[in-house]
Amino acid sequence: MDQHATDLLTDWSALRSGVPPLWARYTDLVVERASGAWIETVDGDRYLDYTSGIGVTNTGHAHPRVVAAVAEQAARGLHLQQNIVYHQPGLELHRRLPQRFPNADPHTPYGLFLSNSGAEAIEAAVKLAKVATRRPVVVAFRGGFHGRTHGAMALTSSNVKYRAHFEPLMGGVHFVPYPYPLRMGGDDAALAATMAAIDELFATLAAPDEVATFLVEPVLGEGGYVVPPAGFLPALRVVADRHGILLAVDEVQSGFARTGRFFAIEWTDATPDIVIMAKGIASGLPLSGILASRSLLERLAPGSHGGTYGGNAVACAAAIATLDVIDDEGLAERAQRLGDRLLDGLRRVVEGHASVAEVRGRGMMAAIELADVGSLAPRPDLAKGVLAEALARKLLLLTCGTHGQVVRIIPPLVTSEDEVDLGVEAIGAALDAIGA
Ligand SMILES: Cc1ncc(COP(=O)(O)O)c(C=O)c1O
Repeated sequence: MDQHATDLLTDWSALRSGVPPLWARYTDLVVERASGAWIETVDGDRYLDYTSGIGVTNTGHAHPRVVAAVAEQAARGLHLQQNIVYHQPGLELHRRLPQRFPNADPHTPYGLFLSNSGAEAIEAAVKLAKVATRRPVVVAFRGGFHGRTHGAMALTSSNVKYRAHFEPLMGGVHFVPYPYPLRMGGDDAALAATMAAIDELFATLAAPDEVATFLVEPVLGEGGYVVPPAGFLPALRVVADRHGILLAVDEVQSGFARTGRFFAIEWTDATPDIVIMAKGIASGLPLSGILASRSLLERLAPGSHGGTYGGNAVACAAAIATLDVIDDEGLAERAQRLGDRLLDGLRRVVEGHASVAEVRGRGMMAAIELADVGSLAPRPDLAKGVLAEALARKLLLLTCGTHGQVVRIIPPLVTSEDEVDLGVEAIGAALDAIGA
């Protein structure tokens, strides 16, 4: 390599400036390699990655079994297009993933449609709901995030930046509040307010027999890592059944053992009609999909949805290895156990920090909401401060919440007890440093 090329490759700040600002950034780190819960930079620094690449690397970075499966399939064919041939990892995944349908009816055969990104799977779910019910309306929840494609952003309300200046958006979308116990007077009041808002919607703006589907996150993700009251999804199921509405659950962030169950809706007994998956499905390779009963899935006519890359062979091989790792390493049980340890630790280190309005979470989906005492006015400045101080302590975290007022903690599920404690101590020190 000539000197110019070497200089160019090592002038990271010049190279970084070539990436458009559209990619809102958390850090300027340039990665040399990543494995398990750790990222190593080109400068030789090691960071504990409690972002999991926004909830993707549930099996950790570069799990050896996933890497081996990827390498093996890559050598046998990278792109074996779905409309043209069947490939073995795809066939295997179509057999195995429907067996994971949450709270499944034992007499119902389930099926799978594969695509590439979370947003793309949302599009599939909404198109399926509309075509199957022949109804035009989708009811989504305030604070929800479902992606940035034209249809998905119309269903997203976690922050106006996802919608601003892109109007007109897809029509036929109505929003009701997501039950947010901290900000709606506790579990019972939050649930009652949400269900009343649905009644009000049906009485004023959208006739229930025009509604194709509810679209809901079982744990609110980008909107603030809000765990809804236990009765929420079952109550939604009842309303859906009453009016012939489908229930589509967006498990893009909460699925694949993240919350201590394979899918987060399994914390309830509600059976969804459509399950939307991405992120953790293939440990980092681009893959997404929806699960639904075969009879429902078959309502999408051949060719009416799809794409060149959907169900890529290498991504499917990664997904199969991911399922094996989740099972063989007991990652759902581990997420629950380590999640409890994480939440206990966080509750301990936030003691005395008046601006911590709540520590909450389910499994390894944990959060600290920062707000003014009494008024609960969101404090994104404090959340940002925690992230900066954590970064200085070599811990990577994210924020979430409409105002960015929530510190979001998403460790890989293969992380160790010691690493959880390390993370908790760093967060405690970060809170001390900003005087929250
Ligand atoms: C719950 C949820 N749904 C959908 C999406 C969109 O997924 P993608 O970014 O892969 O399009 C995300 C991404 O963060 C998400 O968290």
